[in-house]
Amino acid sequence: MRADRPPSLRRRLLTILVVPMVLAWLGSGALIYVLALHYANVNYDRSLVEGALMLERMTRSEAGHQELSPQVRILIEYDTDNPTYYAVRSLHHGMLASNLDLPLPPVLPAIGAAPRLDSIRLGKRELRMATLALAQDDTADTVVISMAEALDQRRELAREILIGTSPIVLLLIVVVLVLVWFGVSRGLDLLDPLTQQIAQRRARDLSALDQSQVPVEIRPLTRTIDALFARLRELLELQERFIADAAHQLRTPLAGLRLQAERALADPRPDSVRDALAHVERLSAGAGRAAGQLLALARAQAVGEDDAATCAVDLARLARSYASERVPDALAARIDLGYEGPSDGLVVTGDAVMLREALVNLVDNALSYAGRDGTVTISLAREANAIALAVEDSGPGVAPEWWPRLGERFFRPPDSRREGSGLGLAIVRRIAERHRAEVAFDRGRDGRGLRVTLHFVPLAAA
Ligand SMILES: Nc1ncnc2c1ncn2[C@@H]1O[C@H](COP(=O)(O)OP(=O)(O)O)[C@@H](O)[C@H]1O
Ligand SMILES: [Mg+2]
Repeated sequence: MRADRPPSLRRRLLTILVVPMVLAWLGSGALIYVLALHYANVNYDRSLVEGALMLERMTRSEAGHQELSPQVRILIEYDTDNPTYYAVRSLHHGMLASNLDLPLPPVLPAIGAAPRLDSIRLGKRELRMATLALAQDDTADTVVISMAEALDQRRELAREILIGTSPIVLLLIVVVLVLVWFGVSRGLDLLDPLTQQIAQRRARDLSALDQSQVPVEIRPLTRTIDALFARLRELLELQERFIADAAHQLRTPLAGLRLQAERALADPRPDSVRDALAHVERLSAGAGRAAGQLLALARAQAVGEDDAATCAVDLARLARSYASERVPDALAARIDLGYEGPSDGLVVTGDAVMLREALVNLVDNALSYAGRDGTVTISLAREANAIALAVEDSGPGVAPEWWPRLGERFFRPPDSRREGSGLGLAIVRRIAERHRAEVAFDRGRDGRGLRVTLHFVPLAAA
């Protein structure tokens, strides 16, 4: 079979059916032959017994004669196709009349009993023999009468029945295969409504298929299609949300930029131009950050794999090296940034790039809210059934009433002092979800600042 030939239900069904059908044909042939032979035997045996009884009657009527009359001989030897053999013998005087030296049966039948039947072998010939015994009234002698014939005719009859019926059975099998061939097409007609249903869909219609039109055998397939639709729907929603978010995020800074440009144009004095440019710089930096965060959130939300790319990630190494990376930023803001925890060996499964992204957002927040001469601590600790990664600072913190809402997209407590988009914690939350980690908010040390903790399931437990 060529590899590029598409699979075919018909071919599949036929190849599955052909071998059993041929076997059934052969089996039915064997069965027919055995049955036919059986019934042929029954019938031929019956006429053999009748022949033996007839011979008995004739022998009685000709009692006293040593030989059978020619008329009787003709009657017996009439059928030349299936020669009948006979033997009439007296137990005292030996063979009285015969056309073949038939042996005595292994057991003599009782006098007057029904003839017994034996299969015997005479030289190369297989014979069926009916034997009966009768008493000679005047002497104490017993006369044994046997009549026999070859088995050829019975076999011939069974063979003829077999040859007569086999083509019919074969024809039936061919008819069944042809019906299967056409039946498959008829059966596949059931798929037409589904094909139409899908063909008539609008591109954006990703609702579930109408299962009432779907044959039960196909439902696993349509359920898979529905699941795919659902994922596509999510993806589309995500894209729409991203576009709306991006428009929303960029409209404000763009309006601000335009305002500043107008201001500078209207008032060309170097001082005010300089002031406007400073605003422009701040606004465009904010827009750049917001765009970056939108992309990060989109990446974290990307559907498809529900779990982050799974590798073993050593959180200790990641946190420690990231802390040292941010030391210059912290120094510039006069913040004491530190890492507390083991230097390696706390491993979770996940995506290192995403985990780092979460850390970036947490440390960004902590550094911007800790305030001058504040402290920021990244800590990592093993807990009973988890690994806790926490970032805390000594800033003003967030009032506990807002904690449940931290992590909603664009949510910023009303008293937020620094500029921002409200996406940082949403990114953190989404990344945590994808790592099956829990996010918890709390106060920092001495009841000051904010502490954000991610509780991970360690690799060994996962
Ligand atoms: N370390 C923190 N200290 C105080 N407030 C914080 C801290 N981290 C986050 N917040 C508050 O949570 C809000 C949402 O944070 P985030 O999602 O990172 O957005 P953004 O930083 O862009 O405002 C912030 O606006 C701020 O009010
Ligand atoms: Mg932030």
